[in-house]
Formats: sequence, structure tokens, C-alpha cells
Amino acid sequence: MCGIFGYIGNKEAKEILFEGLRRLEYRGYDSAGICVIGEDGSFTRLRVRGNLDVLENHIAGAQMPGKIGIAHTRWATHGAPSEQNAHPHTDCHENLFVVHNGIIENFSQLKEELLERGHEFSSETDTEVVAHLIEEKYEGDLSIAVREAIKEIEGSFAIAVVQRKEPSTLVAARRESPLVVGIGKDEWFVASAVPAFLSRTKEVIFLEDDEVVCIGGDSLKITNLEGFEVERQAQEITWDLDAAEKSGYEDFMLKEIYEQPRAFTDTLADKFNREGDISLEGFLLDKDYAKSLRRIVIVACGTSYHAGLIARYLFEQWAKVPVEVEIASEFRYRGAVLCERDLVIAISQSGETADTLASVRETKATGVPVIAVVNVVGSQMTREADGVIYTHAGPEIGVAATKTFTSQMAALAVLALHFGKLRDALSEGKYGVITEALRGIPDLMEEVLSSDEQVKECAHRFSDCDDFLFLGRGISFPVALEGALKLKEISYIHAEGYPAGEMKHGPIALLDKNVPVVAVAIRDSLYEKMISNIEEVKARGAPVVAVASAGDPDIEKICDRVLRVPESMELLSPPLAIIPLQLLAYHIAKIRGCNVDQPRNLAKTVTVE
Ligand code: M6R
Repeated sequence: MCGIFGYIGNKEAKEILFEGLRRLEYRGYDSAGICVIGEDGSFTRLRVRGNLDVLENHIAGAQMPGKIGIAHTRWATHGAPSEQNAHPHTDCHENLFVVHNGIIENFSQLKEELLERGHEFSSETDTEVVAHLIEEKYEGDLSIAVREAIKEIEGSFAIAVVQRKEPSTLVAARRESPLVVGIGKDEWFVASAVPAFLSRTKEVIFLEDDEVVCIGGDSLKITNLEGFEVERQAQEITWDLDAAEKSGYEDFMLKEIYEQPRAFTDTLADKFNREGDISLEGFLLDKDYAKSLRRIVIVACGTSYHAGLIARYLFEQWAKVPVEVEIASEFRYRGAVLCERDLVIAISQSGETADTLASVRETKATGVPVIAVVNVVGSQMTREADGVIYTHAGPEIGVAATKTFTSQMAALAVLALHFGKLRDALSEGKYGVITEALRGIPDLMEEVLSSDEQVKECAHRFSDCDDFLFLGRGISFPVALEGALKLKEISYIHAEGYPAGEMKHGPIALLDKNVPVVAVAIRDSLYEKMISNIEEVKARGAPVVAVASAGDPDIEKICDRVLRVPESMELLSPPLAIIPLQLLAYHIAKIRGCNVDQPRNLAKTVTVE
């Protein structure tokens, strides 16, 4: 939700700020703004309603002299998208400027108090209270003023602040919202995420909660809430810039769909040692611990939740441990009963999703351990969980999750296999067969990707339909849910995912010739049942698109279109079966003229409830 970026260095800030903002656009895009401070304390601030193309037009001819500045791309929470509500926000005298990502929970109370003390507000945002609070605390040292201000704030924030009276100082701080510092040669960056400055430096420092970084006079100082200096080592980021750019693809989403074989391979790579054994860290390695497990509870949102539903089959079948899968926004308030020998697995691409993070905290308060399956290195969840399993999908910029979904399956499959072995639920032989099949998935994914033309043709046939039903059974049911989610989020077509056997209990009433049914009908243990469901659909006159196994000659006879995937082990079919559905959603959305990377009303990282 919102991207913030700050620059201080020896170059003109305007272009650098805009370039950084472009790489954060996936975090929000309903309004944007930039503020640059000149060496003499002058300032230029430009804000627009709309996305970065609109901002680019505004700043194109603008003179914005200065080597220090801040920038913001917004996803509205308090106050509608408008120029007035766009960041950077300022104090009563336009002396200091603030960009913010997060939510100030006590903003109404703070605003009331600030109004009583004579402050004048010009926006409806929660952020503006931060500017006025810092204004009150300012006595000649911006870093101290920021620290004193954040002591009064409740909620989550990552902020970057500049002040005209200190035109060569950039201050930033965070609590619960991400903030990373980039260290270049004679230049520094602060940003919500690494891609913002990846073209300029790979040396980074991740700030911890309630830390304030002050950059100026060729030095960088981090202090905690008590004002004590904190020593923190810089880390080297290993992705290259190409990973954060489109590399010739029309959209990030398409590039990310095609990156799935690589992402799957990379995710598996660090989980096996040279001998081919699974190498996980910490308590997960402990055989007694694995054997004592009574239950696994998986919590997640959106696509990550669907990955959890798939993982349930793997943990239950391979490791023989009961699994519950919960939507994080429900779990966190349910007062769920967790027991001593439970393990909670939180799945999140971003590692910042508010509801999943809150579920992690709820769990930790009970003493039950939490493992986080996360893509973004150093994100909040990775710091709070007892253990982390990374998916190595690389940065995912498209709002629709694709490569992170299949990478989550890779990571969870490894964990399920590992528990299966430690719990003596899998024989050596079976373990070896599954491991080999898992390693073979990326090649099979390449095969699926090579049939994109058929998917495109299918998309043209059905792109003007207003409703879709996605059906699946067993492990293909979550694939159907994910296919429906992809279609609705990027094409704005109504789509429902349903367990095929449940269709006759209601959704069948929706069917007619205008409602295509997408059936995930892999040749698995429930194949015959699925075929019967397809017959039921055909009998109601609805067209059927099947995702079917390559070696299934008969399905063509009862379906209008067939999208083929190679045969694989049943429990490893989801990362293959989902690809045609991702591509179908992508092509339909493109045909309908939608912005697939930045669908309306959505944000890549949902850091609010
Ligand atoms: O970062 P997370 O995996 O925690 O995000 C969860 C959901 O917000 C996310 O999967 C969302 O549903 C995507 N837009 C789906 O494509």
C-alpha cells in the first residue's frame, strides 16, 4: 500500500526520484507526488491525482532544482484520491515535507489536538498529522523531531522527511511498514522496497521497528526510540536489475508467468544439499519435533491462501499430519484454539500483509511456533516468525500473484516431504520418487508455456462473457479457485471457483450458453467424477474449457476447448494446471483493454486490514 522513496546525494534528485517511484508503482497508483529541496532551502512540490504517467507529464517540463527529495505513489486509505490528499504532505508553513506508507491509527485524536493548538490542515489524510507533529517537535534537529513525533503515533508507518531549514538532511523512520536504505557512492536512498534503487546500488540496510535513520553530511546514523545509536551491517542484494524490469515482455505479469520454471527451480535449489537431502534450518530439522507434531494450521490471504489449500494435500498425504487452512483475516479474530504441538505456517509473498502478520502475532502470543513462507527478503514477517522458508521467485511486480504462487508450492512441497521423512510416513523409495518428480516440474512448466497460442485463441472465443464458473475436485479445486481469482482481479469479469461435486447444490442454476465453465480435469484419482460433472454442465448448454492431461484423447469429445498440460504426479499437478488459467486470465484481460499489472482498486501489498 503506497510506495515511498527518498534520495540524497550528489546528483539532481528529480529524475532519480521519478525512476525510483516507477519501480514502486505496483504498491499503489491512484495519486503521486514529488518534492525536491534546493541547496538554498527552496522547494518544489508537484502532486497529481492519477498514476505515474500523469505525474510524469507534470514534472516533464518543471524546474525542480535540488539534490535531495522525497516521492510517493499512493493507494488511498484515508481521503479519496485527489491532488490535495496526494503526498508529500507539509506542515503549516511549508517548511517540512513527509511521505508515508501505513496507517496512523490515532490520527483523529492527534488531529483534534493539533487543530486545538492552532495547526491548519489541508488534506483529509492521516499522514498530515505526522507533518504537523514533527513541526511542533522541531527545535533545529530534524532527526530528534521525527523521533519525538513517532513516539506519539500509534499504528504503522514508514516515513521519509525533509525540512527546508536543513536542506542537506534526509530522515526516515519505520514501524511495521517496510523501509530499506540503499547505500550508493556519495548517494543514499530510502524506499519501501529494494527495486526502487536497484539500478544504483545493491548495498542495503533494512531498518527495524522504531528506528530513525538520519542521512546528511556524508554520513548515515541510525538511532532507536531512546535516541541511542544502533550499529547495523549493510547487506548485499543478490537479484539483478533485470529481475525487476520487463525485459522485453509487454507486461510484468506476462514476464512473471514465463519466469515460473526458473522461480520454481530457484526455490528448490537452496533446500537440498549436495547429497540431495533436504536442508532446512532450526527446529524444523529436529526429528522428535517433527514426530510430535499434532496439527499444522496454515494462515494466508488471497493467492497465498490457495497455495495453503494445495499444501494441505501434501502435508496430509506425505507427512500424515492433519492440516487446517485459514483465511488470515478470519483467523486473527476467531480466538482460534491452538495447542502445544501445533505448528502454524504463514504464507505471504510480501511478508507484509497486515492480516497474515496479525495472525503470526496472535499465534506467537500463544507460544505456538510459526514458520513463514515468504518471498521478500527481510520483510516484517521474516523477522517475527520463528523460522523462514524463502521462495526465490525474485521481485513480483504485477499485482496478480503468479510466479510466487507456484514457488510457494515448491517450498511447501519440500517442507511436506521433509516432515514425511522425519515422521517416517514416507518410505525411502517414495521419498526419492517424489523428489525426482518435484525436480522435473520446471521442465514440464516450460512445456505448458509453449502452448500459449491455444490459450490465446480460447481467450478470444470467450473474452466477451460476463460470468465464468471454475470447477475442480480434490487438489484441483484450489487451482480452480486461483484461476477464478486471476480472471476477476485483472479482467473485472465475475468468476467463481467451486468444488465440482458441489455444483449441483446451487451454482448449476447459473449455467446457460453464456456462462463458460472452466474445468480442471487432470487425469487423476477423481477424473471419472470430474467427467460426470462436465457432462452435467454440457447438459445445461454451458460451454466447457477443460484443462486436461496431454495423454487424454477422449476429453475433446465433450469439451469446447481443451488446454493441455503434461502428465505428472497427481499431487504435483497444480503448478502445471494453473499456468493455462493464468494465461487465460491474462489474454482475456488484454483483449478487454485492462491494465493487467495494475488492476483497479488493488495494491500489491495489503498492509491495512
Ligand atoms: O503478499 P501476500 O502473499 O500476503 O498477499 C496476499 C494477497 O493479497 C495476494 O495474494 C492477492 O490476493 C493477489 N492480488 C492475488 O493475485
